[in-house]
Amino acid sequence: MTQPPFPNTRLRRLRATPALRSMVRENALSPSDFIWPVFVMDGTDASEPVASMPGVMRHTVDRIGAAAKEAYALGIPAICVFPYTGMEQRTEDCALAWSPDNVANRAIRAIKDAVPDIAVMTDIALDPYNINGHDGFVENGQIINDRTVEALVKMALTQADCGADILGPSDMMDGRVGAIRTALESAKHQNVTILSYTAKYASAFYGPFRDAVGASSALTGDKNTYQMDPANSDEAMRLVARDLSEGADMIMVKPGMPYLDIVRRVKTEFGVPTFAYQVSGEYAMIQAAAQNGWLDHDAVMMESLMGFKRAGCDGVLTYFAPAAAKLLNG
Ligand code: PBG
Repeated sequence: MTQPPFPNTRLRRLRATPALRSMVRENALSPSDFIWPVFVMDGTDASEPVASMPGVMRHTVDRIGAAAKEAYALGIPAICVFPYTGMEQRTEDCALAWSPDNVANRAIRAIKDAVPDIAVMTDIALDPYNINGHDGFVENGQIINDRTVEALVKMALTQADCGADILGPSDMMDGRVGAIRTALESAKHQNVTILSYTAKYASAFYGPFRDAVGASSALTGDKNTYQMDPANSDEAMRLVARDLSEGADMIMVKPGMPYLDIVRRVKTEFGVPTFAYQVSGEYAMIQAAAQNGWLDHDAVMMESLMGFKRAGCDGVLTYFAPAAAKLLNG
């Protein structure tokens, strides 16, 4: 890039007024950029706060339709369902994971009944149902890949049968996207999309989420044999190529803010629909600092979300979705 030297070039000229700044603004945020992750639990007519995620509630299934209506009215196009499961619901065979009557699948149906036009996204991994909190079956201390993929396919088909629009395999097993895609095709679910958690890192930023879904006390050991090493970037590109070749429609990078370099590489190198997850720990950091009066909540929330757009995201999974949409709608 060539530009004449000062004073012919004065870059402050275009920053001088709100009108000029808005003319040259390169990115914009809209409520349609957000996917809102919600937590659902058993019971009736109840909501409870998630202690480590101030402002986030778990809702019973009968309340989730109303939350979806509110989101849709704000212009949020998609909602992502995560189940809270107690220790008593977890088993070694994880059978509840593919039951059409588990709390997540009941929530999918409740949301589609309440707001047929909102897109419902799911999570595909065994961790809410597994006695040891892992995303895959554990045998002799090892996470077993291929047997887990068979279970994930059953989960995926049940979710699709319940009306899910977007399946989110978050387990990081090899071969799961292809297996799910093949099964969807055979079951005539050609239009069900897959937003793959493609570059999902083994991150300490998931801590508050594991509280939210009841996994903290269940998890034995770490997820380092299946989630990615935070030191790696080229490996993420191999995973993107692999997931696209297996039939993923959209790609996710997770966590978000510490991994925006990965988002940029995915967008530049592949040019496919790219999403990032501003995860629970990122949300909790901002909320905690704002509660202490150390950061301006709304300003930091919007700046963080704009960072995702600038990095190349087509959308962001964020617990801030309703609050940010309200601000954007004025
Ligand atoms: C589970 C799953 C996790 C998150 C989404 N799906 C946690 C994990 O992998 O341990 C994290 C989301 C967040 O932290 O907000 N497969």
